[in-house]
Amino acid sequence: MGDIAKLSAGGADFEYPVIKGSVGPDVIDIRKLYGQTGMFTYDPGFTSTAACESALTFIDGDEGVLLHRGYAIGELAEHSTFMETSYLLLNGELPNQAQLDDFTRTISRHTMLHEQLATFYRGFRRDAHPMAIMCGVVGALSAFYHDSTDIADPVHRKISSHRLIAKMPTIAAMAYKYSVGQPFVYPDNSLSYTGNFLRMTFGVPAENYEVNPVVERALDRIFILHADHEQNASTSTVRLAGSSGANPFACIAAGIACLWGPAHGGANEAALNMLHEIGTPDRIPHYIERARDKNDPFRLMGFGHRVYKNYDPRATVMQQTVREVFTALKVSDPVFEVALQLEEMALNDPYFMEKKLFPNVDFYSGVILSAIGFPTTMFTVLFALARTVGWVAQWNEMISDPGQKIGRPRQLYTGPANRSYVPLTKR
Ligand code: SDX
Repeated sequence: MGDIAKLSAGGADFEYPVIKGSVGPDVIDIRKLYGQTGMFTYDPGFTSTAACESALTFIDGDEGVLLHRGYAIGELAEHSTFMETSYLLLNGELPNQAQLDDFTRTISRHTMLHEQLATFYRGFRRDAHPMAIMCGVVGALSAFYHDSTDIADPVHRKISSHRLIAKMPTIAAMAYKYSVGQPFVYPDNSLSYTGNFLRMTFGVPAENYEVNPVVERALDRIFILHADHEQNASTSTVRLAGSSGANPFACIAAGIACLWGPAHGGANEAALNMLHEIGTPDRIPHYIERARDKNDPFRLMGFGHRVYKNYDPRATVMQQTVREVFTALKVSDPVFEVALQLEEMALNDPYFMEKKLFPNVDFYSGVILSAIGFPTTMFTVLFALARTVGWVAQWNEMISDPGQKIGRPRQLYTGPANRSYVPLTKR
């Protein structure tokens, strides 16, 4: 018999089973609480709520640990590739060579978009934010790939998952091309997943495009760092949308929309804009002061995290990757120096220390993406591109759970109690 959690409420005593995971906090199973007590729990923002059971990703926020199917993010970033990590997330084990080759070949066969989808781009203004385009185009995919939208069919689920992973780079590259007025570049499946994306983004029909192996490796590693992250806001959005039986393309479009927010995936764009606004190290104290000021809505973008109360392990790898890319490309960017000094000052500031605010995955990513040539408006698009494998893996895990049911939270109602209608003449 496992542990029991006892609750006294409304003059009665109740007991609820405690369920243990493989690692991390136990959970109190309160599924019968409302039926027994007539009361709800209250947890806006879900700071103390486990919404599901999952075997995909584990985070220890106090220790700064991130595991994908048990493998530490630092090891995957150093030794794995985005295709291999995608296979791991989807299937639970690292692939052997034959499995990896088969998976990579399958993904490469889905990189092209239905030609009619290219006309969707022409409906947008050229200066449309690429995330707006991505929300629209991904949501429209179900109109073109309805032959893989029967979520009860595991074969359909597998095909739509592969389609989404494969087509996001094409959709993202086309959004960039449209914004700069250059023609779309079709996929070249002789290239790696990430190399293909670089060529579709920065290649032009007028000349041959050589993938820079240093950039390819760095971007592939950045995709690994963004692949999945437990039950974050956008993943929870995908799960909630999927719980109604919505098709996977619609669910991923919902996740993209949620990721766009500056408190979430939009922080990478906001962080680089902030670093440019700060401009020089001598202006850092002013911004730290603003971040501490409760009356100032300004926050240090790329700092803080709901779960990490220690250094985000992804930020560590990201900073190392900046140094590698800058050295290899023989480039520098004064904004990197501002970022390093801002981190140093913030981590030694009592406010940030007391609130345990550390750099997160979004703090350094913009520095590298900018050095590679992406405009800031493309940063969250790249985050969505990489996170798609995590979203579809989480969606598959939820849909294939026999106990799965539609998500339907309740509320603490504070509006007016029942009252009679007052005729207009009497108001
Ligand atoms: C991502 O969940 C995930 O896993 C997300 C993600 C993923 O991979 O999916 O990791 C990706 O979204 C990373 C986070 C990117 N967002 C930012 O960098 C935006 C800036 N950071 C924040 O706005 C904030 O830290 C959050 C949203 C990330 C977390 O907010 P919480 O957990 O709800 O914490 P909070 O807003 O309640 O803040 C706690 C305190 C507050 O002060 P008090 O009201 O207690 O006095 O810390 C302060 C906040 O004002 N605070 C900050 C701050 N972040 C929190 N103060 C200044 N600068 C900041 N960045």
